[in-house]
Amino acid sequence: MSGETLLLIDGQLVRVTAGSSVAAALRVAGGMGVARTSVTGQPRAPFCGMGVCQECRVLIDGHRRLACQTVCAEGMRVETSE
Ligand code: FES
Repeated sequence: MSGETLLLIDGQLVRVTAGSSVAAALRVAGGMGVARTSVTGQPRAPFCGMGVCQECRVLIDGHRRLACQTVCAEGMRVETSE
């Protein structure tokens, strides 16, 4: 697999290596790779990387998805926080 993929994370253009997960793209976007905010206001980021902890929930093109289980696609729109 080669090339790059361009997607939007909270309105910011992010370029990642093709085949990267959305969790990896969150990290590339900057900061600590925060995916959402807990009900107590704490930042949450991908933890397990295998679809178990649910800490990486984001909205992708308007649908709730796990960032660690989703491969980036060209033009994808990712929104963090819930
Ligand atoms: S990082 Fe645990 S479910 Fe995605």
